[in-house]
Amino acid sequence: MRIDILTLFPQMMNMFFEESIIKRAQKKGLVEVVFHNLHDYSLTRYGSVDDYPYGGNAGMVMAVEPLANCIEQLQAQRPYDEVIYTAPDGEMFNQRTANELSLKGNLIVLCGHYKGVDERLREHFITRELSIGDYVLTGGELAAAVMCDAIIRLIPGVIGDEQSALSDSFQDGLLAPPEYTRPPEFRGWRVPDVLLSGNHAKIEQWRYEQAIERTRQRRPDLLKDQEN
Ligand code: ADE
Repeated sequence: MRIDILTLFPQMMNMFFEESIIKRAQKKGLVEVVFHNLHDYSLTRYGSVDDYPYGGNAGMVMAVEPLANCIEQLQAQRPYDEVIYTAPDGEMFNQRTANELSLKGNLIVLCGHYKGVDERLREHFITRELSIGDYVLTGGELAAAVMCDAIIRLIPGVIGDEQSALSDSFQDGLLAPPEYTRPPEFRGWRVPDVLLSGNHAKIEQWRYEQAIERTRQRRPDLLKDQEN
């Protein structure tokens, strides 16, 4: 998979992708993340890519032409499955979105800024608008990093034990059951007997029941989603 990230702050993004699991995934050739500094596509002498909004609103708007140029240059080199725009008014990003996007070949992610982008960009270039939550960040970089992290870790081979990605919270629409490790008893608090029993069928059944119970207590909305 290849992800091209269009941003005003490539250094900020770089820091995140140069560490740990995401860095290893790139080294292993499982994913290639390429940053593009939007200032390089500026049409002004000052490197700016924003302008005043028509109609005299407060704030600045990212201009259509430099961003369109950047996207079209990339699209001339290879086909892209999605051109994603990070925006608080986008569709909510969740585990289902991460699963779906982890199966794609090439993605563009445009990090929004200021008051947003010229609407013509959204109409003619963006194929998917995604939000990471009902709050407003200063820019789309953190949102893009969150989404890329959730997507990349699902690519087969990225995390060592593939089973562990499959048993994540949300992966089957349920929260994950509790986990324990040694010692079997600490200050009188014992690990549930069933986990020490060696009976795999019983353990699976226990995990499933715990997952249901935890979801019912903490996120009953997820169970309702499953009914639909
Ligand atoms: N940009 C600003 N706030 C955002 C959010 N909540 N999700 C995605 N992009 C954003």
